Amino acid sequence: VTVATDELEVVVRRSPLLIEFRDAGTHQPINSDERPMAYDSKGHLANMLFDPKAGNFIAVSKKLGFDEHFYGLGEKAARLDKRRGSFVNWNSDTPGYTEGKDPIYQTIPFYLGLQHGAAYGIFFDNSYRSYFDFGRSSQQRAWFGAEGGELNYYFFYGPSIKKILNRYADLTGHMPLPPKWALGNQQSRWSYYPDTMVEQVVREYRERDLPLDVIYLDIDYMRGYRVFTFDQQRFPNPKALTDRLARQGIKLVTIVDPGVKHDPPGASSDGRYFVFEQGLEKNYFQRRSNGELFVPRVWPGESVFVDYTLPEARRWWGDLFRVYLDNGVAGIWNDMNEPSDFVDQTGKNQLDVVSYDNGERTTHAKNRNTFALLMARATYEGLERLRPEQRPYIITRAGYAGIQRYATMWTGDTNSTWDALALNIPMFTTLGLSGEPFIGSDVGGFIGRGNGELLVRSYQVSFLAPFCRNHKTSDGYDQEPWRFGKYYEDIIRKYLKLRYELLPFLYTTLEQAHRTGIPLFRPLLLNYQNDPNTYNIDDQFMVGEDLLVAPILKPDVTRRLVYLPPGAWYDYWTNRKYAGGTMIYVDAPLDTVPLFVRAGAMIPTVPPRNFVGERPDDTITFNIYPDDKGWAEGTLYEDDGVSPAYKNGGLRRTMVTARRDGRGFAVSVDVVEGQYNPGVRKLNFIVAGQRSTSITRVKT
Ligand code: GLC
Repeated sequence: VTVATDELEVVVRRSPLLIEFRDAGTHQPINSDERPMAYDSKGHLANMLFDPKAGNFIAVSKKLGFDEHFYGLGEKAARLDKRRGSFVNWNSDTPGYTEGKDPIYQTIPFYLGLQHGAAYGIFFDNSYRSYFDFGRSSQQRAWFGAEGGELNYYFFYGPSIKKILNRYADLTGHMPLPPKWALGNQQSRWSYYPDTMVEQVVREYRERDLPLDVIYLDIDYMRGYRVFTFDQQRFPNPKALTDRLARQGIKLVTIVDPGVKHDPPGASSDGRYFVFEQGLEKNYFQRRSNGELFVPRVWPGESVFVDYTLPEARRWWGDLFRVYLDNGVAGIWNDMNEPSDFVDQTGKNQLDVVSYDNGERTTHAKNRNTFALLMARATYEGLERLRPEQRPYIITRAGYAGIQRYATMWTGDTNSTWDALALNIPMFTTLGLSGEPFIGSDVGGFIGRGNGELLVRSYQVSFLAPFCRNHKTSDGYDQEPWRFGKYYEDIIRKYLKLRYELLPFLYTTLEQAHRTGIPLFRPLLLNYQNDPNTYNIDDQFMVGEDLLVAPILKPDVTRRLVYLPPGAWYDYWTNRKYAGGTMIYVDAPLDTVPLFVRAGAMIPTVPPRNFVGERPDDTITFNIYPDDKGWAEGTLYEDDGVSPAYKNGGLRRTMVTARRDGRGFAVSVDVVEGQYNPGVRKLNFIVAGQRSTSITRVKT
């Protein structure tokens, strides 16, 4: 049977069942089954699996291209190109993970294959423990399978990766825009308490002229780790605290883990716990197949988890957030949501937990990997209901495909080591290629003891990541930007300020991710898909189409090779122009991250500020980087930064072009979309490398 569209032909052989996807234009195969689609209840596939104990294993086996590269699969502690790798998806709490540790926190069963410049995507929509092997166990095949469920997968044909990411976002959901302040600098530690310490950290930031938008409360703000409570000694008046912080432009985010303390009336001397009592009464907590309450151990000790597959339980959970919103809390941090259980981190202890699951009453084998997704959904929908005039802001550690609809994510408990820093780049770019654009990692690393050099180099990666938050474990060194001395602090200040200057560019690029699914933080290959030199680059990245960053990822190193793709490039610091398609050697003393701007780009910037929205964007500078023909263009996206009005036209998109005109430049500024009115402001134009710019004509 052949099913054909304008772009794709799908040839299905019925017996044995074999499927081949072909390009409709050339009739060339893009992706072909290597053996019949398999459903195996007796483990016949054992020799091709590394965990054959599964009962109902389903699998698909594809011919492995001689030159095929693989990308995606969400959060993996692995390099960008997944060829010759094999992976498992089973959300797991894995503190201190290093390269090769698998699985870790998230499950995104979506990958891209790329061969001879043409890409396809496969989304295997199956939440059971799943396996992906990209030519690791065999020279002939790439295969994927799962320990249960149905064999449903979606095939996307590009040939461009950008088109696939766009379609994948259409299918699994587009990331909504977070509040604009989420792009600001964020600071956390396990844990800041009492309230006066939170304020002291903020005061240091302001006195030291370091920009900051967000501060976090980790688990010690609660009364005995009871979610939806505040410790009365440490935080006697949270509303007064958030009011004082708000006057300094600071937003407060509190952690809310899934573990609800198992706390029946009379069990504790320090009062009753309404969350446990309500949830128990309504029967919203997870139970084992024999009807017993499932009691994992997490921070509060014996705890219970909500069955988030129950719609009314999600609604109840979402409404609980009123406690935080009434206290002026701006966002929610969902952690430990794999879900982590100190009794046993492999999930074995949870296997007989039954969830409602649309009345199907399925087990943990199916529901583990979607637990965090549904918890984030409950949280998001709660915040949306309770505060509809503001965009919800949630960050999460675990997730499943679609998590981008509800939450920002960070890469969990990394180490404060150079190896962990180097892993940031392939992990961020991979997440971007997996439908998760809003990502980041604990700046400076979470576990252990770093130093000033590592912290500086870490900021030189994260100052251009969508989520930029310094966070540290309780027994690691203090790690705020000033903790290692003024020398390092001064450099970090330079990068934080640069981030705030670049906010118009970053926000414009983030809105593109929202609209198109194409991420902000990109591997080079996403922009240069036909250049095989980019296919394995793990130590450089791009921000949008225009900025190329080549950080230093090793100690004592102050020079490195940088690959510049075809085209021309400007060194951001010196404006020196380079021809691309080659590698260059650049100096990178500790205060410098190699940063290049694509010739032809126009980068909008604003003067630095202490926090997002401190003052109106009344002066916007367009930095013009002309290409060899004297041409540059750029876009500026604007909206109110906080409300969901952007979903209904409350935005403004401005296209700006510059063309060499005699000895000057002719500039044109066109509002191409939207009704948002940013007010009167001054537009500046600066041409890279020219001290005084003559703008001969401006057309608006
Ligand atoms: C987990 C989180 C970490 C947090 C800690 C205490 O380890 O990943 O970020 O600080 O729990 O809540």
